[in-house]
Amino acid sequence: MQVDIGNALAEVATPGIPREALERLDDRVAAAHARIEEGRANDEHGYATLNQPDNVDVDAIEAAVEPFADCETLINVGIGGSALGAATISAALDSDVEAYYLDNVDPKWVADHLDDIDLSKTALNVVSKSGMTAETLSNFLVVREAMEDAGVDWTERTWVTTGPEGNLRDLAEKHDLPSLPVPDGVPGRFSVLSTVGLAAAALQGHDIEAILDGARDADDALGPSLFDSPAYAYGAVNYALDQRGAGINVLLPYAESLETYAEWYSQLWAESVGKDGVGQTPVRALGATDQHSQLQLYRAGPHDKMVTFIRPKERADTTIPETDLAGLSYLGGSTLGELIDAEFEATEASLANAGLPNVRIEIDRVDEAAIGELLYSMEAATILAGELYTVDAFVQPAVEWSKKATRGLLGGGDFEEADEVAEKTELT
Ligand code: PA5
Repeated sequence: MQVDIGNALAEVATPGIPREALERLDDRVAAAHARIEEGRANDEHGYATLNQPDNVDVDAIEAAVEPFADCETLINVGIGGSALGAATISAALDSDVEAYYLDNVDPKWVADHLDDIDLSKTALNVVSKSGMTAETLSNFLVVREAMEDAGVDWTERTWVTTGPEGNLRDLAEKHDLPSLPVPDGVPGRFSVLSTVGLAAAALQGHDIEAILDGARDADDALGPSLFDSPAYAYGAVNYALDQRGAGINVLLPYAESLETYAEWYSQLWAESVGKDGVGQTPVRALGATDQHSQLQLYRAGPHDKMVTFIRPKERADTTIPETDLAGLSYLGGSTLGELIDAEFEATEASLANAGLPNVRIEIDRVDEAAIGELLYSMEAATILAGELYTVDAFVQPAVEWSKKATRGLLGGGDFEEADEVAEKTELT
């Protein structure tokens, strides 16, 4: 993975980072790296994320999914960090097993999905670190009932991935379901390179060792200077641009298969650094599609944002058929890959010409190793950013607040958060 920050510098962009400022920031990166290394050495909460590639029990994951080897479909029930990492890998890599990620609880959407799926050929993975999340447990109960209605023994088709306590753990014990543990010290949104993200990948036939090798490569590249460490360069530049007014970061992958990666990154960054009145807002976009919509704003609107391009250098390609239609002959014989690449280059140059800061992340191709490297690198970038912002990247009090309020409102316990909502509702 290469990260090019040239278009984020003050000589190109406004806002942009003066070279001297980047050098000063590098001292803070060195201090942050030392803190991160210390946290890793002690397996501290959150920092332990970066030790995951060497801690994953690949054999246990493969053994857990082996009984479901005959399945044609995977339903992953989970939300937030218990869905987006696995969904990112599923979206990036081809598989014969189709995966559905039931995270939201929109009733029509859930019902439509269940109508489409042959539940007798489905493996169901229920994922919740806390084992208490209302959306996940509700969707599980809905899928379970649909399986029962279809005459499918759900206990034969289900495994759970959860922590040591909680409703889901109780359920697994009651029904003697196979289960995988969620590792300690790894917050939900940082858990993709663990049982949480990798079991679905294993079920879909992906080489999870290769994903972890990619992550290890990214780990090897971490060091005390942003000038030598692509992941830290990215985290530090985002932070420095945010400090200078680029409070929005538009993720613009030029690969359909990486759209979910942008979604995963958005969760990781927003939930980790968005607290104590600071944080940069991630926005998901897609090249070349959004060239025909949002690009107008990015190029000509306020300079309150940066754009992150993600580009695979190689891809499977399709030739555009020759045509004698007047004016279209220039397309014939080219490929769709050449076209999307030209669009990427044009957009990058156009934003640089307009002085909008942008960063280019390149991978050789979308494969297991690159996905592992991309996932790990953004986890490291986010952890570094947490140090630079001086926030605790590993907590999510606002998210927990809404989880408690939801449970309380549905009668799942006494929560002052639910009382607050009730009071507000009475006032309006
Ligand atoms: O990062 C986080 O902590 C959250 O996004 C959680 O992953 C999400 O709320 C789901 O939580 P759980 O896995 O406990 O069901």
